[in-house]
Amino acid sequence: MLLLLLLFEGLVQCGASLEASQVPGPPHPATEEPLSFRVLQTSSFANRSWASSQASGWLGELQTHGWDNALGTISFLRPWSRGNFSAKELRNLQNLFQLYFHGFIIEVQAFEHQFQFEYPFELQVSAGCTVCAGKASGTFLNGAYQGSDFLSFRGDSWQPSPGAGSRAQKVCAVLNQYLDIKEIVQTLLSYTCPRFLAGILEAGKTELERQVKPEAWLSRGPSPGPGRLLLVCHVSGFHPKPVWVMWMRGEQKQRGTQRGDVLPHADGTWYLRVTLDVAAREAAGLSCRVKHSSLGGQDIVIHWGGRNSALLTLLCLVVIVTLLVLLVGHSCFKKHSSNQKALAAAVHGPDSPTGADTQGPRTPGHQLYLPQESWIKNRFLKKWKTSLHQLWGR
Ligand SMILES: *[C@@H]1O[C@H](CO)[C@@H](O)[C@H](O)[C@H]1NC(C)=O
Ligand SMILES: *[C@@H]1O[C@H](CO)[C@@H](O)[C@H](O)[C@H]1NC(C)=O
Repeated sequence: MLLLLLLFEGLVQCGASLEASQVPGPPHPATEEPLSFRVLQTSSFANRSWASSQASGWLGELQTHGWDNALGTISFLRPWSRGNFSAKELRNLQNLFQLYFHGFIIEVQAFEHQFQFEYPFELQVSAGCTVCAGKASGTFLNGAYQGSDFLSFRGDSWQPSPGAGSRAQKVCAVLNQYLDIKEIVQTLLSYTCPRFLAGILEAGKTELERQVKPEAWLSRGPSPGPGRLLLVCHVSGFHPKPVWVMWMRGEQKQRGTQRGDVLPHADGTWYLRVTLDVAAREAAGLSCRVKHSSLGGQDIVIHWGGRNSALLTLLCLVVIVTLLVLLVGHSCFKKHSSNQKALAAAVHGPDSPTGADTQGPRTPGHQLYLPQESWIKNRFLKKWKTSLHQLWGR
């Protein structure tokens, strides 16, 4: 929630509308996008004797820094996470953070009773700055107690968040007495942070501005109900994050299109799932359209297997009909021939005297068709004999 607000704040400060940032135009340098660098801190206080802090550094939604609690050192997670700061400057910052994290826990524990913090509790801080088109465009420092907005640093003083109550007012009143702390915070936010941010943006340029084309494919989701289909369009492996994906019928956007969250892959590229719930008979003719800066205006369009599946159905039908014809034909033929055999057997009897002795040994197998053959032969012979007799005048 806090993060979302901060992100939104950053975007608005930069004068870019949310919608515009979601519809990528032609490829453009990432420095024109509002970008923030923030340090996130979460401190958990389990009881009077146990507390622990975690901290990390983020460029937008990409984690660039960790904090090693045991060693009290900054972990640089990207090759370019040092930006253009010198080793000395980074060491100074590291020392400052060591003092801060240590002091933070001690001070909170010392004031816990006065501030009426109730164990167990969690304090979070998000602090940083934004740049837009290469220029510093804003700073922020927000604190949360038990996951809710608690206070912020604005201008040159601490202010309680609306609705955070008298506890937040008390904390701000105390904090505002420490002029040194306010000065350090102001310097870090307004001077150090924008310089550092500009430095890592420059150093990480190649990775941050890389254009990776998405892959897209369709699948069918769990049926939303009888006679309905959930069409799923998967878009995966793209960079940068802004992407436009829509279910379409021709040039018409489908208003029921549901967009999921854009999820990160481990390699820094992104994944998005966009679904549409439709009546099964209306699925044909729909397509999923993907716009992304890496595609250079050549949208990806994938058609729901309307035509394809019709073709497939036709093919299946042809195969089934062919099989049926073959099957019926075969059984007809079998029936036909067995009918003939039955007829032959009925005419001549199974052991017709004019049997096929001439056909060699009678095996059960032969018995089935021999009578038929001999029947033809016998008739032929009879006729032949008759004509011979006539010829001889007998
Ligand atoms: C304080 O909390 C820690 C972490 O939950 C636990 O291990 C420890 O036993 C607790 N100590 C006391 C005195 O309650
Ligand atoms: C680092 O880069 C920024 C922006 O390009 C510049 O303002 C700054 O002077 C550079 N050097 C240091 C040590 O910050």
